[in-house]
Amino acid sequence: MRKQIAAANWKMNLTLAEGEKLISDILACNSELKAGTEAIFAVPFPYLVQINSLLKGGPGLFVSAQNIAAMNNGAFTGEVSGAMLKSIGVQYAIIGHSERREYYHEHNAVLVEKVLRSLEHDIHPIFCCGEPLSIRENGSQNTYVFEQLKEGLFHLDAAQMKNFIIAYEPIWAIGTGKTATSDQAEDMHLHIRSLIEKKYGADIADSVSILYGGSVKGANAKEIFGKPNVDGGLVGGASLNATEFCEIMKSLKS
Ligand code: PGA
Repeated sequence: MRKQIAAANWKMNLTLAEGEKLISDILACNSELKAGTEAIFAVPFPYLVQINSLLKGGPGLFVSAQNIAAMNNGAFTGEVSGAMLKSIGVQYAIIGHSERREYYHEHNAVLVEKVLRSLEHDIHPIFCCGEPLSIRENGSQNTYVFEQLKEGLFHLDAAQMKNFIIAYEPIWAIGTGKTATSDQAEDMHLHIRSLIEKKYGADIADSVSILYGGSVKGANAKEIFGKPNVDGGLVGGASLNATEFCEIMKSLKS
């Protein structure tokens, strides 16, 4: 069974003290993850070390960067490289979040480089894809997501794609309170898995964890995660609340 994952994306929220309090509340309300499940906390860069040390000892608990540089090192003011992340024990990095694509103009060619830098340093990418509302309304979401995967991800070989993590996040559902229905999520996840199968074969496709993101909360996680091709969620707003995120962690399939 592929990994089932609850990933928290704090975005640019919380002070260090608030973040530490949130983590200790989450650890207190949910000390045991089910077998085969993981909780990943994508926290702001300056807190990675502290939050990682708070999580230490908890099986299945990891920190993630929210971004990674496309280059290895050099004169790139403000960037954080894969080698730097690796050197402080980070094992995951979100790549291609729609906010990075939209506000920082990260196009597919840059994402290709980010995925490669990440893998070079043994950091697992959490690769985001998902369509804007206009695309969903004209019914071409499957083609749109296919293009994102083809241009951003399908340069990888089969070994690199094994156990990969993809997050499907329809942009119209992010931070809007408007969740995709569990059927809409399942349809797209099945589509993504069949694209991977076509290119890499059934074994690889079956090993890839596909997370849903977009207004996941305690009240809807169980239904969405219950779908056969949904392997957990990437959670923004509700990940800032301990009770909500604990409920989301408990909603993972085992
Ligand atoms: P949301 O954000 O849960 O607040 O909709 C999800 C995300 O952007 O990863």
